[in-house]
Amino acid sequence: MMKRLVLTWALSLSALGQSARPESFPITPAEGESWLNHLHRSFQETSMGKSYHLGPLLARGEKESPDPPQQWSRQSASQMVILHGSDLYRLNCWGCHGEFGLGVPPEINSVINPTRATSTQLVMERMKNRGMDMSRADAAQLANQAKAALLQRLHKGGTDMPAFSHLSEPEIRAIVNYLRQLAEIPGAEKQQAMVKESRVRAGEHLVKSTCHICHSAAGPNPDAQQLFDGVIPPLNTLTTRTNLLQFEQKIRRGAPIVMGTPPSASRGRMPVFDYLSEEEVADAYLYLKLYPPEPASVDVAVATVKRNQAASEIMPLEFRVEPTNVAPLVNARDTTTIIFPVAAEIFTALLLIGGLSFTFLEIRRLTVLSERRKILVTSQERAAVLASQSEKQPVPHSASSDKVASETAEMDHAQALQHEDYRTFESSWLSRWLKEVDEAA
Ligand code: HEC
Ligand code: HEC
Repeated sequence: MMKRLVLTWALSLSALGQSARPESFPITPAEGESWLNHLHRSFQETSMGKSYHLGPLLARGEKESPDPPQQWSRQSASQMVILHGSDLYRLNCWGCHGEFGLGVPPEINSVINPTRATSTQLVMERMKNRGMDMSRADAAQLANQAKAALLQRLHKGGTDMPAFSHLSEPEIRAIVNYLRQLAEIPGAEKQQAMVKESRVRAGEHLVKSTCHICHSAAGPNPDAQQLFDGVIPPLNTLTTRTNLLQFEQKIRRGAPIVMGTPPSASRGRMPVFDYLSEEEVADAYLYLKLYPPEPASVDVAVATVKRNQAASEIMPLEFRVEPTNVAPLVNARDTTTIIFPVAAEIFTALLLIGGLSFTFLEIRRLTVLSERRKILVTSQERAAVLASQSEKQPVPHSASSDKVASETAEMDHAQALQHEDYRTFESSWLSRWLKEVDEAA
């Protein structure tokens, strides 16, 4: 038994070690409802994801861009791009906090002050301005706390801000360094960082952080009347509703959309994201094609298989990229590194749950026993008192003593029953569990 425990523990540790490797930070499909739906906030009453630029009233007669869609197809999924902290900020944060990090108070807080609080020098200056002298060590400690809070905020999100669990450590560091530049912390511009990533990964940033604010991952394709009523098409319909060219135009310049009954071209409600480059929008399209969005969390292994199929089916059609070019996707090693840790994790969880419920049941059993003993003792005491009373003044077998006696008997019976129940439950459960563990091993 002990050996097994140690083995699982070692297994799950090695699994942790593997997922922490920066180079294998997994790209995953967008999933679940939009952030606005999650917050139960309506499109009208939010500033999230809004650039406050709308496309032309009606781009009637505007000639489509002369770029043939084939030009886009040359971007292979594995092509690498350099993303600076400022790029990561643009893809992940600008949609809510805006170009300068000021947000839209009171709904979206500014990032400036929480970032300035991470600078020892600025903390000391602020204290001095308030007439308080603070040692550098104390200021450094405050600044470190602020830094931890900032990192925590990015990992865990806030009450109204999503968690950015898809960001890797180096990405978060690059973003924080850029926030420090935005907050005009002295010397911050010399500490800017960058990351080298695949195009699909850049697309993942944009889709998960910006488009997913309004667009849910998966669902039915709305018709013209539903669009008119305010339904926002889910991410899994976007690459069929539009080709790459229309997609790019809709996002960067605005394009009419057919709405209402009878269906007619309309300017639509979606803001224009003119701060994105053509390549970045194309990356988002590529990502949506390669990693079809999913309704909600499903088995990782299943998702991996599905994605593998999707990659080989869709890639050659739309992008004319050989599936072998799709290097960062799935290979045999990846699948084992996913399935193996998952199995180990499930096993550890089983063991944990087993151990916990055993302890719980044991505590319950002991409590029941001691309670039962207490009741026995008190009822014996009471019986003794009654006996001595009845000795003093011979009452003909009083009703009250009868009641106490029958109550005690009843309770005793009930406790005993419960106790027996626990015992049988416990033993059958234990043997079942042991069998399962044996089978699993
Ligand atoms: C979907 C909109 C949204 C996105 C995207 C977003 N934020 Fe926020 N952020 C908020 C909201 C809303 C708040 C304030 C309310 C709260 O605490 O949730 C906030 C608060 C913050 C704060 C804390 C401000 C304070 O007063 O403590 C920081 C720092 C921050 N965001 C940084 C970021 C960074 C960095 C990114 C990009 C990686 C980002 N946010 C992306 C919505 C967003
Ligand atoms: C602030 C909310 C919001 C955000 C953020 C947003 N969209 Fe939209 N989007 C909409 C709405 C609303 C519609 C419905 C059509 C309309 O009103 O323009 C829409 C429609 C679309 C369409 C369908 C166009 C058509 O002709 O069928 C595409 C494509 C699209 N969005 C892509 C994106 C991408 C990519 C992103 C991320 C860069 C994004 N959207 C971010 C609100 C948003």
